[in-house]
Amino acid sequence: MLRVKNVSMTYQKGKKEALKDVSLTINEGEFTALLGQNGAGKSTLINILAGNVKKTAGTVEIGGFDLDRNELETKKIIGIVPQDTGYDFVFTIDEALKKQSGYFGIQNNRDTIDELLEALYLTEKRSARLRDLSGGMRRRFLIAKALVHRPKILILDEPTAGVDIEMRHTLYEFLVKLHESGTTIVLTTHYLEEAEKLCNRIVIIDGGKLIADEPKTDLMETFSQEAIIEVHFEQSLTRSDFEFLGAYDPEITEDNRLLLRAPKKELSKVFKMLSEKEMAFTNLVVEKPKLEEIYLRLIKQ
Ligand SMILES: Nc1ncnc2c1ncn2[C@@H]1O[C@H](COP(=O)(O)OP(=O)(O)OP(=O)(O)O)[C@@H](O)[C@H]1O
Ligand SMILES: [Mg+2]
Repeated sequence: MLRVKNVSMTYQKGKKEALKDVSLTINEGEFTALLGQNGAGKSTLINILAGNVKKTAGTVEIGGFDLDRNELETKKIIGIVPQDTGYDFVFTIDEALKKQSGYFGIQNNRDTIDELLEALYLTEKRSARLRDLSGGMRRRFLIAKALVHRPKILILDEPTAGVDIEMRHTLYEFLVKLHESGTTIVLTTHYLEEAEKLCNRIVIIDGGKLIADEPKTDLMETFSQEAIIEVHFEQSLTRSDFEFLGAYDPEITEDNRLLLRAPKKELSKVFKMLSEKEMAFTNLVVEKPKLEEIYLRLIKQ
């Protein structure tokens, strides 16, 4: 569906290497998270796919069409929700969506537009000018704009940045439905719980290089041999009390909570050590690592 092969990108006449030999294939029906720190190269990659930035090396194929030779065809297949946008502020939502449809030679798509506005909670705002929308409304408008030509792949560059919590969850539901109805989705986000919840594949780029690309379940499984143990005590804690647990990375949080990381097979040993200490604890929580922790560890490596 989408094939990126040995793509590199250098800005400023060779001074700034933003992507280094990135290869990535996205298959039909996948819901992929594209993760990475600020400046990792995510938007650069997305802008290349959108045809807004010209790569310095490599090839990109979208729906079987080569981006360099057949850009117009690739645009029909892909819908992009950009991170930064310059758009026509004086237009209303309705006008902007009709204009966007026009680019694709689509007329009489009132039903599609109505449907999108409804699903993105923008119906009431359809006659408002873009410049008068709030930041969160603009992001939703951009999603409608990316979908107006019913693309097979939707790529979203931080669509939930600055969107309130309730609306974020509404957007998740929208994306899940869109995915279920057959759209392939690539989502860039800094909210890792979002990626963990929605996506089935995790791609991480760091310093312009691909450092992980795995089905989410595999990635989580690799790290699930470890447990995170949180013990709550009545009294305040000091580090020196827990030197005997040094092998388990003890960390004191919120004054009276102890955080430990241990291989699952050593859980009973840890509990035994804790109980021998004879400090009464009020709560005990054992969790598996979250995507956020796994991500941080991969980035540090
Ligand atoms: N137009 C440009 N000219 C020069 N350098 C650029 C340009 N756009 C991006 N860069 C540089 O390329 C690198 C990658 O930037 P990019 O915007 O792709 O990162 P990102 O992963 O999207 O980050 P963020 O999470 O902050 O959005 C950065 O070092 C950035 O400074
Ligand atoms: Mg970006």
